[in-house]
Amino acid sequence: MRVTCTVNGSPAVTSDVWEGESLLFVLRERLGLPGSKNACEQGECGSCTVYLDDVVVCACLVAAGQAEGRDVRTVEGIAVRGDGGAGGALDAVQRAFLDAGAVQCGFCTPGLIVATDDLLRRVPAPDDLTVREALAGNLCRCTGYEKILDAVRLAAARRTGGAPEGGAG
Ligand code: FES
Ligand code: FES
Repeated sequence: MRVTCTVNGSPAVTSDVWEGESLLFVLRERLGLPGSKNACEQGECGSCTVYLDDVVVCACLVAAGQAEGRDVRTVEGIAVRGDGGAGGALDAVQRAFLDAGAVQCGFCTPGLIVATDDLLRRVPAPDDLTVREALAGNLCRCTGYEKILDAVRLAAARRTGGAPEGGAG
């Protein structure tokens, strides 16, 4: 089977796709985009979160064929889109996760960044309960979530102009 879709703004054609192959496998193993992580492959952890036609999905649960003709955006594509910055510079969410110390092993980070990007596009200044609910499907085994909350607050502040781009405050 051949799958033709748009990935991070560019056309992507993948041939010889097996019927049961996931979108996550195609992204990581065929298109060379390892940002989306494969932790559980069962839709439980959120580490594979990507946009499919601007809706967040677990790429491990999406059959590659379902992406035919559709628009996929991964954590790599958030860098390209973010902030209007050029050249794939990190966007405010990605920088905030680094600056807030919300990355330890990093396995959960790409999915959390996509989920946070989605949240802040819908709710630019969310309260903590809204953040917790929005990120409930993204599991982290390392951080205890407080640093992740800090990162989301920082990203929201930066995107709404409430905090400087360079510092953690
Ligand atoms: S790898 Fe897809 S939800 Fe865990
Ligand atoms: S930083 Fe390790 S799982 Fe979140």
